[in-house]
Amino acid sequence: MSEDEFRAAMARLAAGVVLVTAHDVEDGPAGEDVGMTATSFLSVSLDPPLVMVSVREGSRMDDLLAEQPLWAASVLTAGQRQIAGRFAMKGRISDRLLFADLPVRRGGHSGAPLVEGALATLECRTEQRVTAGDHTLVIGRVLATTTATTKDGPLAYFRGSYRHLA
Ligand SMILES: Cc1cc2nc3c(=O)[nH]c(=O)nc-3n(C[C@H](O)[C@H](O)[C@H](O)COP(=O)(O)O)c2cc1C
Repeated sequence: MSEDEFRAAMARLAAGVVLVTAHDVEDGPAGEDVGMTATSFLSVSLDPPLVMVSVREGSRMDDLLAEQPLWAASVLTAGQRQIAGRFAMKGRISDRLLFADLPVRRGGHSGAPLVEGALATLECRTEQRVTAGDHTLVIGRVLATTTATTKDGPLAYFRGSYRHLA
């Protein structure tokens, strides 16, 4: 099986899209916020409440979450597709500009930015990190959640494109 065949098979699994965020606590409140678009986010356990995200080894989010345990995920709406696009760009040096005009509030448990208008937000503390091939599975205990009922449905990703549920 080639990498293309693997990609093509997985591209047919429709997925929800989250923005994973964390605040670099090293510099205190002035520290930088980092964001990463992800589809590998899933629920792992109910008791205790655990979720997981698979983060590419060597990415800025991987580097940051190796240093500190607190992070968050915002479940994006179809109308927030631009946010997903911006936080998926490769080779960004800093996310400061991307966060500058993004409506967020800071999570009380994680200090991470939570996207205003997201369908749900989950603040997490990493319990376990597992190296899996070229990714790190970051398993987090859910500290707090918010949910919203908006008319806007979820953002989905299927066969290489953003979609909304019709
Ligand atoms: C729809 C979509 C889903 C993605 N899902 C993941 C994911 O689950 N894990 C991951 O590490 N990267 C994922 N990416 C890629 C990251 O968003 C992207 O590599 C990262 O933001 C770029 O930062 P970096 O240069 O530090 O890697 C995804 C990209 C897109 C467009």
